[in-house]
Amino acid sequence: MIISERLKTCLATATHMVAFTGAGISAESGVPTFRGADGIWNKMRPEELASMDGFLRNPDLVWEWYAHRKRIIAEVQPNAGHVALARMERCVPDFIVITQNIDNLHRRAGSTKVHELHGNIERNYCIACGRRYSNEEVLKAVGVPRCAACNGKIRPDVVWFGEMLPEDEWEASVRATESASLFFSIGTSAVVYPAASLPVTAKARGAYLVEINPEPTPLTERADEFLQGSAGTILPLLYDILHDARKVSA
Ligand code: OAD
Repeated sequence: MIISERLKTCLATATHMVAFTGAGISAESGVPTFRGADGIWNKMRPEELASMDGFLRNPDLVWEWYAHRKRIIAEVQPNAGHVALARMERCVPDFIVITQNIDNLHRRAGSTKVHELHGNIERNYCIACGRRYSNEEVLKAVGVPRCAACNGKIRPDVVWFGEMLPEDEWEASVRATESASLFFSIGTSAVVYPAASLPVTAKARGAYLVEINPEPTPLTERADEFLQGSAGTILPLLYDILHDARKVSA
């Protein structure tokens, strides 16, 4: 893997960094991605399983699918890619993870500054009164769980097609993106908006844009550097460079 001198310098000196992540960073933990040969959306219909209309049409089916994903995610572990990002956070004054993932693996790996653009599968809420529920409280239900307060249907706290992103997470993500001098786009097909606009914004605001992915994406030709390969291999290498450079200059 060839890492440019420019990237080495950024790793050694940048004070504001963003890691923007997608399903690919969790692939090596065993969480399926959405697109590509084995992608979820090749086998399942997003409008049936990941939309409010689909939920209202068939709440038991949608709940069953999310209950299945909740169980898979509860059993997997963060991988070397997640861990490398958590370690980078401890070396850099302002290191922010912006993720499209709902699997909570960044926090479980130790990252503390995480903006979740598409929600978090460990949380749930009642669609009628908004009351919040943990997975523990709802996973015992047969079929869609019901709110203890108002008997409304409970849904996972994830963003479905046609829904707005959580405003505070989005605004914080845009702010971090605009001030980043090094911006990584990691394991995302970079096709789902508005999230996919962030790397482009970062570059327009002067960040050095580095993409990490085994496959090229629509972003690749706009990236300053494309590191082709898996996140679990490349991020630990980048962490070593960052850590060694900062240790020397400390
Ligand atoms: P995708 O499934 O669209 O893309 C996953 C990307 O990860 C692909 O570009 C793969 O090449 C890459 N990849 C696979 N293995 C990798 C590895 N080991 N290391 C690095 N990269 C790897 O997933 P997202 O871009 O996250 O939205 O999808 C964006 C959104 O579309 C998701 O958040 C979800 C989905 O519909 C919602 O649920 C709202």
